Amino acid sequence: MRARIALLPGDGIGPEVLAQGVRVLHAVAERWGHSFDTTSALIGGAAIDATGTALPDETTELCRASDAVLLGAVGGPKWDDPRAKVRPEQGLLGIRQALGLFANVRPVTVHEKLASSSPLKAEKLAGVDLVVVRELTGGIYFGDKSRTSLGADGERAVDVCTYSTMEIERVVRVAGKLALERRGRITSVDKANVLETSRLWREVTSRVLAEEFPSLEVEHLLVDACAMHLLQRPASFDVIVTENMFGDILTDEASVLAGSIGLLPSASLGATVERDGRQATLGIYEPIHGSAPDIAGKGLANPVGTIASVAMLLRHSLGLEEEAAAVEKTIHDALAGGALTADLAPREGRAKSTAEVANAVIDGLAKGRVASPV
Ligand code: IPM
Ligand code: MN
Repeated sequence: MRARIALLPGDGIGPEVLAQGVRVLHAVAERWGHSFDTTSALIGGAAIDATGTALPDETTELCRASDAVLLGAVGGPKWDDPRAKVRPEQGLLGIRQALGLFANVRPVTVHEKLASSSPLKAEKLAGVDLVVVRELTGGIYFGDKSRTSLGADGERAVDVCTYSTMEIERVVRVAGKLALERRGRITSVDKANVLETSRLWREVTSRVLAEEFPSLEVEHLLVDACAMHLLQRPASFDVIVTENMFGDILTDEASVLAGSIGLLPSASLGATVERDGRQATLGIYEPIHGSAPDIAGKGLANPVGTIASVAMLLRHSLGLEEEAAAVEKTIHDALAGGALTADLAPREGRAKSTAEVANAVIDGLAKGRVASPV
């Protein structure tokens, strides 16, 4: 197949992990005979430096004209002034909103060889395989923000949290469909004992799940309890669906289960539409880690989160399930074979560089070609 893929390297370690993801994309294209046209554009701090804005119009246009977007990371101390009018994060939030990517899918699995990298006891981690579906274009992230002066008493800052029925329904449907393909369990997370938005969340979630997904086993948890249960019984979760900010916080917490945040991918998905005669879902694929400016440019960053995001891109936006599964298997094998960057504190031998870990995956894909009976 032919596909257009937009590349948004961003800041810090973003460009170096993205470069490895692109090598893997090309390795997939070569093995399966696809043609992926990649075009880069600016986002985040890099875009602020070059153009004065974190999300230039050309970047949005390129993403709209592409089949999928692969992103590195944004942000860094250079642009961190809390009083600054332009911030790198505006680029990321802006592109999610501009493309209507309301469902952020963040899978968390524990590789059996890496259980010792997590601070949790290995026996708690056995069988952990969960996906958080985080609402991504609503809630407190996108409500009105303001500051007013209180004179001698300083200032008042306001962030408004809003959710509509439609915003909740569509993300719950994404999560429900996913749960049907998995172990049939779904946990909806809110703070319905305090917040009005959460009471609507629980009402709508209960209704949609009961009417449209009657076979699912449904659990509702308050976000504070969920934070605790994620550490006490992580293997019991299958699909977790929650609003924007709770999902942001819980996914960083859940990444600890995997041993390093550097391992985890994500997909930010919008509505499925008909395009060039086939059903297509535009998405941004990115590792869930940040720009890690302290290790940028040193070849230390873990590329696995980005490479696993490439697998999600192949699956969700290009419909290439076999290729996606092959990338995931080679990642698994490469990690088992000791392709570990410093964040995973390898016990034997030295830590591998960003490129060496990607090489192990690319070699694995090439071997698969020799062995495959096509
Ligand atoms: C994430 C990040 C972003 C978010 C930031 C960089 C705006 O933390 O993707 O989880 O809060 O959504
Ligand atoms: Mn986050």
